Amino acid sequence: MSILGKFDISGRSALITGAASGIGLAYAEAMAEGGASVTLTDIDGEGAEREAARLRSEGFDARADRLDVADREATARVFDAHAAAFGGLDICFANAGIDPGAGFWNPAGHRNPDGQVDTFDPARWDRTISINLTGVYNTIREAVRLMKAGGKGGSIIATASNAGLVTEPIVGMAYMPAKAGVLHMVRALGLELAEFRIRVNAIAPGPFVTNIGGGWLKHDPVARKAWDAIVPLGSVAETDQLKPLALLLASDASDYMTGSHVVIDGGMMLGKFE
Ligand code: NAI
Repeated sequence: MSILGKFDISGRSALITGAASGIGLAYAEAMAEGGASVTLTDIDGEGAEREAARLRSEGFDARADRLDVADREATARVFDAHAAAFGGLDICFANAGIDPGAGFWNPAGHRNPDGQVDTFDPARWDRTISINLTGVYNTIREAVRLMKAGGKGGSIIATASNAGLVTEPIVGMAYMPAKAGVLHMVRALGLELAEFRIRVNAIAPGPFVTNIGGGWLKHDPVARKAWDAIVPLGSVAETDQLKPLALLLASDASDYMTGSHVVIDGGMMLGKFE
């Protein structure tokens, strides 16, 4: 097979969580452009349907379902609906995630009174873990069920974060252990599922312009400038820049990768020396 042929995912189907916006939407567009049939799922069901309708109007095969990944029973139902529509499941992005609110430190250089381990509302911890960690487990669990039933293997990709690898004081604390948990879940499941040719990998993004946390990278020029300044490649990223990596991990082009993660952060984790 030619190198480019290994990236061809036509005839396959993909389900993406958190696909009404940001990184999940970019994954959905990448899968559709790569030739797959896609289900966009999101807690914002109207947003998912709006984006699926747009993809259909552009000639792609897309459907949508409302899904809160913290709801295990609903997750099973939505995966079953995908399989009924497309005859199985080949690719799954466990992507939905939230920002837990302020960390202990803010960009102005002060400690946040309500962002410290002994002061933040524990409900923020519970909600963040239920979506950013347990929601990924709920998603992968259903994907594996369908992929095992299909008997053809598959590719599962979780969205982690560079905050799962290094500490980020402005990020609310529950976010980091959740993302570190996702990265280690991917390693553990890469081993467990290799026998079934189900590959499990993670993407660890740095700062991308999305709607997370109210979309502050879009709306706050001061924060945007501060983040641009700490990225060695010069700026925060647009979600289109994630699409080639998504296609690599979803397709046979990565058929020898499992239990792995790829950092895509403009070099941010390398530190900056000027
Ligand atoms: P976004 O806010 O633009 O998109 C997230 C989507 O997930 C939204 O459409 C939202 O409605 C949906 N969602 C929220 N809670 C949900 C739930 N319980 N069930 C299903 N869907 C739900 O944010 P973004 O940035 O695209 O985030 C996607 C993933 O990327 C998250 O896991 C986030 O932690 C991760 N990430 C984002 C980075 C960034 O700089 N934007 C950096 C590193 C990781």
